[in-house]
Amino acid sequence: MSALLEVSGVSVTFDGFRAINNLSFNIGARELRAIIGPNGAGKTTFMDIVTGKTRPDQGSVTFGDRSISLLKLSRGQDRAGGYRAQVQRPTVFEDQTVFDNLMMALKKPRSPFAVLFFRPSRPDAVRVQALAEEVGLGQHLARKSGELSHGQKQWLEIGMLLAQEPRLLLVDEPAAGMTLAEREHTTALLVEMAKTRAVVVVEHDMEFVRRLELQGDGSCTRGRCCRKQPRPCDAEPLRRSKSIWNAE
Ligand SMILES: Nc1ncnc2c1ncn2[C@@H]1O[C@H](COP(=O)(O)OP(=O)(O)OP(=O)(O)O)[C@@H](O)[C@H]1O
Ligand SMILES: [Mg+2]
Repeated sequence: MSALLEVSGVSVTFDGFRAINNLSFNIGARELRAIIGPNGAGKTTFMDIVTGKTRPDQGSVTFGDRSISLLKLSRGQDRAGGYRAQVQRPTVFEDQTVFDNLMMALKKPRSPFAVLFFRPSRPDAVRVQALAEEVGLGQHLARKSGELSHGQKQWLEIGMLLAQEPRLLLVDEPAAGMTLAEREHTTALLVEMAKTRAVVVVEHDMEFVRRLELQGDGSCTRGRCCRKQPRPCDAEPLRRSKSIWNAE
């Protein structure tokens, strides 16, 4: 199976400090991978490279069947068939309802003209309802997002990302600050999402990652790794459907 995302030999230096050293990583179209590691190991930097926020000093990052180089695309461009990253803090519009947040996130033309004259259609509303149900917010469509719990906001954020129909979802510490019940729901959500797309989860919390493992097919592989410096990683290519790259 060819990889959807292929990161190869990537290094990043910030003011002389090498945050990532010769990292290689790949993920297939319907895989879930968890990346674990201590503070400062370079996990978020890795995601920033994939989303284009940070440019590596060397290495390549390719995406999709035609192996398009993501490093050649400007930030914000819809990258070769689409993926989005979720960041740690929910960025929902708190004064808007769950319904409105999801509606705004739907994949639509974004020209000023199109936005000005946008009218939600019946299929749009059906799609929003389906998205809300997918992330467990089907009963909360009419609520203002600001009233949601922290966990529910995270799920809304995930729903908003799903609205963009990404082929790859990058989720940075989705369970941070969540209650146990919320973490369990998040685990189930990520496992479910990875049935139809690639999902990369960055997490500190080993318990959370173990739970991901238990809910999946149990074929977790731990990459061979890695001192904190130099790092990451001369990990074996992680071929199973669910793998851990341990950046420690
Ligand atoms: N824009 C930047 N400028 C300078 N140094 C940076 C920058 N971004 C990250 N770093 C440094 O690179 C290293 C890796 O940071 P990164 O945020 O990727 O770690 P992380 O694994 O996500 O950590 P955490 O678990 O705390 O989120 C850290 O030492 C950090 O201080
Ligand atoms: Mg981080």
